[in-house]
Amino acid sequence: MAERTLSIIKPDATRRNLTGKINAKFEDAGLRIVAQKRLQLTKAQAEAFYGVHKERPFFNDLCAFMISGPVVVQVLQGDNAVAKNRDVMGATNPANAAAGTIRKEFAESIEANSVHGSDSAENAAVEIAFFFAGTEIVG
Ligand code: TYD
Repeated sequence: MAERTLSIIKPDATRRNLTGKINAKFEDAGLRIVAQKRLQLTKAQAEAFYGVHKERPFFNDLCAFMISGPVVVQVLQGDNAVAKNRDVMGATNPANAAAGTIRKEFAESIEANSVHGSDSAENAAVEIAFFFAGTEIVG
């Protein structure tokens, strides 16, 4: 079933000029980039986006990292896009990520792990609406 998910290329990856290599991984997996923009997040935006994690010990460091440089926010579309994107991303901790995944190839640490991807279709809808107006998404 065609589905959409929210992806973020994180500051560690934009800093190293990896946007194109990461986008190639998405496209090679059959995901279509149907919206994309480069942003400098504010602290308030980072805290709101990761609000679900606000009681976790890594929350403050994670928000500081996410505003440490530009991000590229994207909507990916394709069959089972949420699960497919999570497969291409690999495990949260690059030490546990499978060969060929974005995090195995590019992530620097569990925090600076190069990409975010929605973890369910329900969260994808909320996260897409956080960054994009409907008219900005061209499927
Ligand atoms: P999480 O939703 O568990 O992982 P994923 O991004 O794979 O869906 O965590 C969100 C982000 O929080 C994760 O990408 C990086 C950061 N994080 C840490 O910095 N330290 C940690 O111990 C964990 C679990 C996550």
